[in-house]
Amino acid sequence: MFRLGDFQFPDAAARLYPDTPERPWVLEVGFGDGRFWPHYARALPQAPNYLGVEISGTSLLKAHRRLKDAGLTNAVLTKLPADVLVREVIPHAGLDLIVVNFPDPWPKAGHTDHRLLRAPFFQLAASRLNPGGAVLLTTDHDEYFAFACEEARASGVMTVDTGAPPPPAALETKYALKWRDLGLGVNHARFTPTTHPPVPHGTTHPYPEDDHAVPHAILTLPDRFDPSEFSKFTKRSEPGRGPDWTVILLDLYGSLRRDGWVALAHVVEGELTQEVLVGITNREDGSTLVRLARFGGPIITPGVKAAVGAVTDWLETQGATVTHRGY
Ligand SMILES: C[S@@+](CC[C@H](N)C(=O)[O-])C[C@H]1O[C@@H](n2cnc3c(N)ncnc32)[C@H](O)[C@@H]1O
Repeated sequence: MFRLGDFQFPDAAARLYPDTPERPWVLEVGFGDGRFWPHYARALPQAPNYLGVEISGTSLLKAHRRLKDAGLTNAVLTKLPADVLVREVIPHAGLDLIVVNFPDPWPKAGHTDHRLLRAPFFQLAASRLNPGGAVLLTTDHDEYFAFACEEARASGVMTVDTGAPPPPAALETKYALKWRDLGLGVNHARFTPTTHPPVPHGTTHPYPEDDHAVPHAILTLPDRFDPSEFSKFTKRSEPGRGPDWTVILLDLYGSLRRDGWVALAHVVEGELTQEVLVGITNREDGSTLVRLARFGGPIITPGVKAAVGAVTDWLETQGATVTHRGY
């Protein structure tokens, strides 16, 4: 199981699957409880390299157990929104197949923006699939199916083939069985890129090259520093907003182990949301260090740096003198 911070941006099959780098590379989006891959891999002489992406933590654990029981070792699972993973982690022309089985249909009017299979995703997929690669969609939902086919055509980078049957493994997933029990049919499409335009990584989440440069600041607190002012400040202040991020300072906790406090901040950047801790630690030389805490493995993005900046700015409003800003 990989967290976003365990990947490189972009990553490479040779690094993720060091024992089987030459095998085809398949990405499954929204694998649910993970039934598709064991069925799919079992039907082949050699299991392709597998990358599964999900937003549900419970699904991640269920699928992890299933893949382990099936002895599928060249498999990486991660809990992320699919488009973040595809844009940031997958190298240009890296994948052989993207599989999407029974995606959430977002059926209500006005909710189609939440659907994954829209033109921008097809453009991204075309850039990350290698020549001969394809996106396979299997769904029970007629309206989403028609929508996805239309979006693929509108993307200008995909041909749409609705004539072939789905892979048998796609009919063995939890949702496939649910629809089969209800006597309902499924739709299947194969979307094949006509071009492989390079879509840059980090278009909305530019990760710094050196992610070990932990954002921090050094300052001197005033003699009469009152941490309880924090709650008054957060009640009356607006979230901090930058070009691609929003930062909300949520709370401040006293540290039992150290002389200092820890601020909790909520950082939103596109589809990526992180809750981060920013430590405020008094040091022996009389200065105070404000620094992103490693807890939870935060990804150091511009928004996370801004969270360290927001805590520093608040301390400045309380009379602190900032001597160094490293964010
Ligand atoms: C209807 S379920 C289908 C699960 C599985 N493919 C199956 O056929 O049983 C849709 C799955 O997609 C996941 N999902 C929804 N949006 C996602 C996204 N942006 N990235 C990754 N997974 C997502 C949901 O958590 C859910 O498990």
